[in-house]
Amino acid sequence: MNSVTTGIFHSLTSAGGFVSGEKLCREFSITRSAVWKHIELLREEGYRIDAVTGRGYRLAGLSGRPVEAEVGMFLNTGRIGKYFSYHPEASSTNTLAKGLAQEGAPEGSLVVADSQSGGRGRMGRSWYSPPGVNLYFSFVLRPAVPSLRVPQLTLLVAAAIHRALGSHVPGIQPKVKWPNDILIGGRKVCGVLCEMQSEPDLTHFVIVGVGINVNQSVFSPELRHLATSLANESGSSVSRAHLLADVLNHFEPLFDEWLGTADLSFIVPYLEEHSFLLSRDVTVEQFRQSIRGTVNGIAPGGELKLVGADGRSILVSSGEAHLRKEPT
Ligand code: BTN
Repeated sequence: MNSVTTGIFHSLTSAGGFVSGEKLCREFSITRSAVWKHIELLREEGYRIDAVTGRGYRLAGLSGRPVEAEVGMFLNTGRIGKYFSYHPEASSTNTLAKGLAQEGAPEGSLVVADSQSGGRGRMGRSWYSPPGVNLYFSFVLRPAVPSLRVPQLTLLVAAAIHRALGSHVPGIQPKVKWPNDILIGGRKVCGVLCEMQSEPDLTHFVIVGVGINVNQSVFSPELRHLATSLANESGSSVSRAHLLADVLNHFEPLFDEWLGTADLSFIVPYLEEHSFLLSRDVTVEQFRQSIRGTVNGIAPGGELKLVGADGRSILVSSGEAHLRKEPT
């Protein structure tokens, strides 16, 4: 959308009723036929706009799509999400955001896609990204911290998403599964993929990629027992635009607090309260080994705290945790 189309969209949303064509002509210094063209562009974007002779134009409903004009209505951040690029289809928003970051894009630059053909997950997995239903987005961070601290961001993002879901979607009980998943009823509804470019003492940038199953109603037989969506769990559809804005609104103050502190201490109680793994017996699969133990918390550095069978405390800084089946 160009800036005049976005401006007209904002005039219609803030008026909440009819806005005359004449007023729009004056506001944007354009002709009546140009106003009409912009209204048609908005209609092509999927907005329903009533046009009534003598009264003007009225927005009859929002689309819920995560486009800039709609997300902007709910966004109250200072920098995260301020530079916005929307793609009806992308390979991977992480890849696009990385390209922007390498070209010098400022912190907070956001890439959103309606669908992805090459969505990526952790451990080299792919992320199923069908159009019209879910959220796929990535944003650029430039934290002035040593690269050792960067993995903590995944938990910070998970906390922000958890808060946004709690305030936005009634009737669900999401849990944070260390280090990067949000689950509802034991099934995955969201994943976070953080990728960085750094030197040991210097972080050039971090790409935070988030996929949320929002309104997807059908899952393939392979995924059905592992994944779910907010709509399936809450029984009603959710505005992707509003949810995206809420996630960013929750993330920015957490990020600022994190930048001003040495670790995650300030958010650990929240992460533990909403942890899927706390007090559970788990196996954490790492590249070369698996570690077994009972989870007894999250350390200030973001590591998962385990107690081994011999009573020893173990700090796990990476890997994928699986619940261990009770012996039969
Ligand atoms: C995971 O749980 O394995 C992480 C999944 C992250 C998926 C998101 S979708 C938007 C962004 N672009 C990608 O290619 N991946 C992330």
